[in-house]
Amino acid sequence: MNAPILTVNQLCTQLKIGVQSTTIVDSLSFALYPGKTLALVGESGCGKTMTALSLMRILPTPPALPSTGEVLYRGRNLLTATEKEMRQVRGGKIGMIFQDPTAALNPVYTIGNQLVEVANLHLNLYDDAAEVRAIAALHEVGMPHPRTLLEMYPHQLSGGMRQRVMIAMALLGEPDILIADEPTTALDVTIQAQVLQLIRTIQQKRNMAVLLITHDMGVVAACADDVTVMYAGQKVESAPVIPLFDHLSHPYTQGLFASRPAIHKPKEKLHTIRGQVPSPLHYPSGCRFHPRCPYAMEKCAQKPVPLFHPWGKEEQQTRCLLYDGTQESEEKKRNWNDAS
Ligand SMILES: Nc1ncnc2c1ncn2[C@@H]1O[C@H](COP(=O)(O)OP(=O)(O)OP(=O)(O)O)[C@@H](O)[C@H]1O
Ligand code: SF4
Ligand SMILES: [Mg+2]
Repeated sequence: MNAPILTVNQLCTQLKIGVQSTTIVDSLSFALYPGKTLALVGESGCGKTMTALSLMRILPTPPALPSTGEVLYRGRNLLTATEKEMRQVRGGKIGMIFQDPTAALNPVYTIGNQLVEVANLHLNLYDDAAEVRAIAALHEVGMPHPRTLLEMYPHQLSGGMRQRVMIAMALLGEPDILIADEPTTALDVTIQAQVLQLIRTIQQKRNMAVLLITHDMGVVAACADDVTVMYAGQKVESAPVIPLFDHLSHPYTQGLFASRPAIHKPKEKLHTIRGQVPSPLHYPSGCRFHPRCPYAMEKCAQKPVPLFHPWGKEEQQTRCLLYDGTQESEEKKRNWNDAS
């Protein structure tokens, strides 16, 4: 495999709420590779967006405190880079698209103004050259009549078109990493598929790394090469996508998988994971998932759980005591396998 473009080591982000500090991204490590998609998966409130904002150093401060750990972009730690360097990275080397394009596009400027500004800032292109580049970017994301579009305002476009414009804007700086935070959640199903396919096509053309944030296991199966599952600020499972779906090791990942809507059985009752993601102010002791876990053992609530390699597989990690090799855990797993 190629060397990673971005390596995240032990990333921690804390929020200070009143007098209390709480860790919302807890010792998270992962790597992004050229041409590959890493899906960051988890329910609402697990810390996915906070992870993305930490990488780009655009956390809301306060309440967030500066992150610790390492975010190595081609060997340079972005957490210690100057603000001037970060301005070149954001929207330049690392592009970002969000769930809600209306929040990212400025309503009082035309699409042309906004694209030309990115061309000025990141490509040093001005006047006609910037406009030509903006038109090419809109063309690349499949927008019809790009020249006319330059004169339009965001509110004149449909949701799917706005998302394409945001992708064009993110790609204009010629990034080698694209962070896509729930890029299709606000779109209807057919447009979702088109936007995901568009990202995939451009990724392959440019050999870009993509960090795809989603809570949708269907999107993971369709788009990801590697998967990191987050729960309550921590990585709970990671693996390349095929081994992961072959053997879902963590009870939380199994719950996420079981609760995905089955398109071929529309009337079937949806499974849900009982309970809710805990507030960062009240993480449970031990395994943070234990109050919701159908396999919880007494030891699960006692102390923090490290990452294990399930079934001795180096490529897969799981934060679950079912894989600690003890007799109790082996029996628990046997009963669970017999029941399923
Ligand atoms: N500005 C803020 N002030 C206080 N708490 C916050 C703030 N932003 C996020 N949080 C908390 O940090 C935790 C992680 O939030 P984050 O937005 O990263 O979740 P997420 O996984 O992206 O969820 P979603 O799928 O809903 O987007 C949550 O508990 C959230 O309530
Ligand atoms: S450590 Fe225990 S509570 Fe946590 S996921 Fe594993 S079995 Fe469930
Ligand atoms: Mg989010």
